[in-house]
Amino acid sequence: MVNGNHNLGFTIGNNSSNKFEFVIPDDVDIKKWEYVYMNINNNIIIGRIEEIISKSELMNDTMDFDSIQKYTSNNINDSVNVCLSTILGKLNGDYLVQSREIIRPGMPVYMANDEILKKIFSYNDDESLHIGNLPDNNVNVSLNINGLRRHLAILAQTGAGKSHTAAVIMEELLKKGASIIVLDPHADYVFMKKNTDGKMYSDNVSVFRTPLSTGRYTKNDIGIVNNFTIRFNDLSPDDVKNIMDIKENYTNLNAIVDDIYKKMKGKKDLNDFLETAEKLPPEDYKKIRGRLTFLSKIKEIFQDYTTGINDYLGPGKMSVMDLSGMDQFLANYFSFRVLSSIYDVKLSSEFKYPVFVFIEEAHNFVPPKKNNDISKMIKKIAGEGRKFGIFLVVITQRPGKIDADVLSQCNSQIILRVTNPSDQNAILESSENITDYLMNDLPSLDIGEAILVGEIVKMPVIVKIRERETMPGGADIDIISLLKEARDELKKMNNPEEIKKKNKDLLGEL
Ligand SMILES: Nc1ncnc2c1ncn2[C@@H]1O[C@H](COP(=O)(O)OP(=O)(O)OP(=O)(O)O)[C@@H](O)[C@H]1O
Ligand SMILES: [Mg+2]
Repeated sequence: MVNGNHNLGFTIGNNSSNKFEFVIPDDVDIKKWEYVYMNINNNIIIGRIEEIISKSELMNDTMDFDSIQKYTSNNINDSVNVCLSTILGKLNGDYLVQSREIIRPGMPVYMANDEILKKIFSYNDDESLHIGNLPDNNVNVSLNINGLRRHLAILAQTGAGKSHTAAVIMEELLKKGASIIVLDPHADYVFMKKNTDGKMYSDNVSVFRTPLSTGRYTKNDIGIVNNFTIRFNDLSPDDVKNIMDIKENYTNLNAIVDDIYKKMKGKKDLNDFLETAEKLPPEDYKKIRGRLTFLSKIKEIFQDYTTGINDYLGPGKMSVMDLSGMDQFLANYFSFRVLSSIYDVKLSSEFKYPVFVFIEEAHNFVPPKKNNDISKMIKKIAGEGRKFGIFLVVITQRPGKIDADVLSQCNSQIILRVTNPSDQNAILESSENITDYLMNDLPSLDIGEAILVGEIVKMPVIVKIRERETMPGGADIDIISLLKEARDELKKMNNPEEIKKKNKDLLGEL
């Protein structure tokens, strides 16, 4: 990228207050998405190059190959390079305000230098999270923490870098002493205690896992894992009904559970519950038997201790809820327990610090038109959480399959590569910050490149998200080296010596 104040080109005709065109000479090194400026009456007008078109009158589409070859071999070239640029605004201190200046043909256009770019893409350290830099240079891009007050959505197709981006934001929030809760269905964040070399990164990160999560990693890989358990005695009859998926309008089943509780006479552990249920009149027992079997199947979650809010919420503390391998119904139940207790302590001001809740695979927790407990809770936090200091970061590769209200409550978006038109439409509909010209860029983003829009930035920007400082959990599978390993294994298996040895062993056994 060229820095400094040399004149890059000149405006030509057809300009308006939100876009302009300028010509550049052939030898200028400039790319789409770079920033330029004009000085109009001592106002600095910033523009972003959306497209560079190279055209020629002479070498047009009626020419055949030989004619073009003749022109080029005789150095005849009338091509012009025209940059199409949007106007982002007028620099006013460190901010951009709307520009209403007239852009006349023949005005000089300059490359925006680092000094100007830093002004528009950075905030004071105290109020910002450093998440990357402009794709073509080292100008840092930071997020305004205050912008997170109105929730954030991280959207992209699979493999584009959503979890990586979320982890970078978590790292930055940890540095600022934030309280963070992560609902992690694929164990993507369970290594965040460690840095990329496997050494300790932060003592403030804890992983919670229910005895039913299969976990993609062993406890040895992760280090200390806290069990997320429930003491059956601590559950109210309504809690038990919830776990058994008995909805309010299932009058018969509700009455049967109430009856069991009446007959338990103060005894309350799971065995008491199941034993009392067995003594129910046969027709009642038959009705509830399937749900009792379910309770027995998940009995491992009922232990001597109920994991509570003080275990996972604290100033500067990040708690990763590893829900990997869990049935979605149970993942919903645990997530609901966590989010509703956070909601309660924030509502009552018992916990005064802001809480950032990251929800991975958010479309599974709050799909459109679903009204179960977890989706109601997420919608409630999306709607009113900011008043109490609960801020959501919803992460999904299915923007069309998540509740539209939740998505539209997210006033900021980080959007990485998206090629599917229906997902692009869902994104476009979810936010007024996203313009058509930004949408056009979505399919051409590289892995780790993101468009940032909304209150987290002063203006929309494409950024290369920085490297992670912490160890990733769910990195892509390295197919090539695994296939090589498989070939080696196959070779070994087909090796005559190996076959002879195997046969010998077999004969020995016989
Ligand atoms: N900014 C980046 N810099 C370097 N590598 C990155 C960056 N972003 C993503 N990657 C790499 O790309 C791969 C996919 O990233 P990631 O797992 O974050 O994608 P995802 O969008 O969360 O995918 P999925 O939908 O499967 O969860 C990972 O191996 C990750 O390390
Ligand atoms: Mg991911």
